[in-house]
Amino acid sequence: MNEHAKPLTLSERADELEEHMMHELGERIATKSTLFNIADGNVEMPNGPALKAANPDKYFLMGADPRLPKMPAKPTLIDYFHNRFASLNHLLQSATHALKGGHSEKVVLACLLHDIGVASFIRCDHGYWGAQMIEPYVDEEVSWAVRTHQALRFFPDPSVGYEYPEMYIKYFGADYKPEPYIVREYERARNHKYYMTSRLICVNDIYSFDPNAKVDLNDFVDIIGRNFRQPEEGLGFDDSPSAHMWRTLMWPTRFL
Ligand SMILES: [Fe+2]
Ligand SMILES: [Fe+2]
Repeated sequence: MNEHAKPLTLSERADELEEHMMHELGERIATKSTLFNIADGNVEMPNGPALKAANPDKYFLMGADPRLPKMPAKPTLIDYFHNRFASLNHLLQSATHALKGGHSEKVVLACLLHDIGVASFIRCDHGYWGAQMIEPYVDEEVSWAVRTHQALRFFPDPSVGYEYPEMYIKYFGADYKPEPYIVREYERARNHKYYMTSRLICVNDIYSFDPNAKVDLNDFVDIIGRNFRQPEEGLGFDDSPSAHMWRTLMWPTRFL
């Protein structure tokens, strides 16, 4: 009887995928970090010695993953937009609304970058992740606004016509209540000097889910140039406090 006739356990399935993946990579072994497995419901990580023993002729991948779009030697923010952000439409629509609304370049940039945490990295606490990624390169108004939209989007502000999003009722249920740390963040933010920048992210956010909207990253290249301090060495190679986050995006399957 074919051994595959019986259903595979999770870890057998993971082994099969692992094998398939290694096959694609030729002489290198790409490893999945614990987080990638946790997201599939498995608290486990590949066993290095066992993987190596099963593939004695291969080395672990310690750089670029050939399955992903190639990054230049000195990547810019725009390169990450094109090669690592899974979806640009929502970000571009938000920024386009802000631009048409006549808002400052800082507000436009904050809208353009507000969900890069989601687009490139992780949904959970994406405002915090996104803010940390950009903090060394933008004005503090921009990173503060990106961090704080994590909380503000759950709370209405009638002064700018922002209601609790209908979408969240559909997504999370009518009785969903934000966690206490989100409530505390909102309360701290209310009287902050950059409150309105973050609030404007929320205002432009809710109108930015039209799959047919015509948007173009080229509309924002100059604003990025004036407001995002692109490191000469390349984003990820500049030794800033968040350079490792960009490198991880560049090389997500590097062994160490
Ligand atoms: Fe967001
Ligand atoms: Fe958003």
